[in-house]
Amino acid sequence: MAIPPKAVELASGITWVGIEDFQRRVFDALIPLPYGTSYNSYLVKGNEKLALIDTGYSPFEQEYRAKIAGVANMETLDYLVMNHAEPDHGGCMPGVLASAPNARLIATKKGVEMAGLFHGVPEDRCLAVKTGDTIDLGGKTLQFIEAPWLHWPETMFTFAVEDRVLFTCDFFGAHVASDRLFADEVGPIVLPEAKTYFAEIMMPYTKMAAAGLDKARAVNPAVIAPSHGPVHRDPAEILRAYEDWIRGPLKKKAVLPYVTMFDSTRKLIDAVADSLSSEDIEAVPYDLLVLNVSQISRDLVDASAIVLGSPTLLGGLHPVAASGLTLVKALRPRLKLAAFVGSYGWGGGAGSQAKGALEALRFEVVDILDITGPPHEKDIERAAQLGQTLARRIKGNPQLVSGE
Ligand code: FEO
Repeated sequence: MAIPPKAVELASGITWVGIEDFQRRVFDALIPLPYGTSYNSYLVKGNEKLALIDTGYSPFEQEYRAKIAGVANMETLDYLVMNHAEPDHGGCMPGVLASAPNARLIATKKGVEMAGLFHGVPEDRCLAVKTGDTIDLGGKTLQFIEAPWLHWPETMFTFAVEDRVLFTCDFFGAHVASDRLFADEVGPIVLPEAKTYFAEIMMPYTKMAAAGLDKARAVNPAVIAPSHGPVHRDPAEILRAYEDWIRGPLKKKAVLPYVTMFDSTRKLIDAVADSLSSEDIEAVPYDLLVLNVSQISRDLVDASAIVLGSPTLLGGLHPVAASGLTLVKALRPRLKLAAFVGSYGWGGGAGSQAKGALEALRFEVVDILDITGPPHEKDIERAAQLGQTLARRIKGNPQLVSGE
């Protein structure tokens, strides 16, 4: 069941016909969705032609079609604009194209390829566009802006020129389902959820996100309409937030993901965290066994350092710690400083493996503390020293604005 059932007009002739998916609890078999998500789609009606921007997730096709039918006759559709091919947006495309015999699919060159691969759209129904190309709907112009890797290689933005509405698909999105459409109505959950979304979907492509942000700013949009979550009818706040997450200063913050078997590694992590806190560095420990992917992802957007904690298991990193590192590697945070703490019973191995893995991520490994057996007082003191060393390095980090 999805609400609101009604379409919502964003501007004259531009109507949201999306789906609110309140029940969904996980995305990409990885990302928790505490607030569900939405699959936003928009109808743009000119005096002469009708366009649909993105579609939705196929399990909701019936409801989606009913929503469109309340606004327009799908059979009369002239253009289906595909900003992104991923099935959460492209899943209803085959059905829409089957119902709209004269409609042409508009996408980037790569998008045309992917529409064929993922959705079986024949090339002769497609029109490939590049940055600056436009279509005239009669009193309404759609302009296309290539914006690759936000979040797949084929992605683009579509700009409704006269109304200055920028449709950005995943970019500026948030996994939030709501009975309200506009960000200012949905309230304070929007920015934290947008930050989580940025961390998980855009941070791995920070350079492309920076280029995307510049392209969005260049058209001076009055409204930013992504395809997940609320629509920003005052875009200044989300533009400023993206600026901060992409190019802003890092914070005096360290994340400390760890796994522990008999509490030895946890005690070392606690000592490091206490030491960092005493140096005015925010320390955020994460027990990887009960990891909330979204929380650590969000913290990685502006953290300055990571401290990995792992016992040695079977001669190397505990597999849960290795899995945590895999996530960090995939997200590509901007932080540069790293350290490791752990304990082992006899031969060790986690410390040296962690060093290699952290260096492979191009982090500077500030310190490695790998102790034998449970931590004694001297080990706790050593962990505190590690925290102090790291704190000094964080404070001396040129990516950090003093006092931030
Ligand atoms: Fe919302 Fe990358 O799809």
